[in-house]
Amino acid sequence: VASGPLAGKSVLITSGPTHEPIDPVRYIANRSSGKQGHAIAAAAARAGARVTLVSGPVTIPDPAGVRVLRVETAREMLQAVEAALPADVAIMAAAVADWRVASGSGQKIKKDGSGKPPALSLAENPDILATVGTLAEGRPCLVVGFAAETQNLIDNARAKLQRKGADFIVANDVSPETGVMGGDANTVRLVSRDGVEDWPTLSKEDVAERLVAVIAAKLADSGE
Ligand code: C5P
Repeated sequence: VASGPLAGKSVLITSGPTHEPIDPVRYIANRSSGKQGHAIAAAAARAGARVTLVSGPVTIPDPAGVRVLRVETAREMLQAVEAALPADVAIMAAAVADWRVASGSGQKIKKDGSGKPPALSLAENPDILATVGTLAEGRPCLVVGFAAETQNLIDNARAKLQRKGADFIVANDVSPETGVMGGDANTVRLVSRDGVEDWPTLSKEDVAERLVAVIAAKLADSGE
């Protein structure tokens, strides 16, 4: 039997990017290494939780002691998340592509010699965090989202908290000069209805540990 501050709790985490195919050899994606989401999964497992990690395509290893479900697209990610519910805690750290190609091609798109590029028409992907955060039935006790922004960090995070029904938004500045994207460190501001907590620059592992501690304390607080 697991011990630790999250013993007996189930935690569902999304991580990595999604890939949205254009044709069999090309895709649209967000930049994401999966490092932060995977680190949270590892930390939650060390804290004694039963962890399911729904991961988009990444090149980093699976965290120890975690059930990993691999997906490619946002729609597959949503399906895997819905199938993995219920959970006590949901942490949506994936960098989900907002759009997919409306009608992907089954064959490689070729240059036709006219000099005119093909036009891609896009369709909006489902918002996985908003879907989980606003579930009428079976919503996890705690829902955590991320906000990677290059401007108006806190305003955007607060808006996301509201709109997506999250309890916490882990907000971070991903302007190119910060080196957060693909890097090992993260400077986080934790936004909740109670306010904003500024964290020092930490390794992604330490951000994960600290987030897991906040979650364990919040669950204990709410008598869960
Ligand atoms: O709106 P934005 O993409 O900035 O929101 C980021 C947060 O929403 C992250 O927690 C991300 O995992 C989640 N998200 C999602 N599904 C989407 C888009 C974002 O779960 N389609």
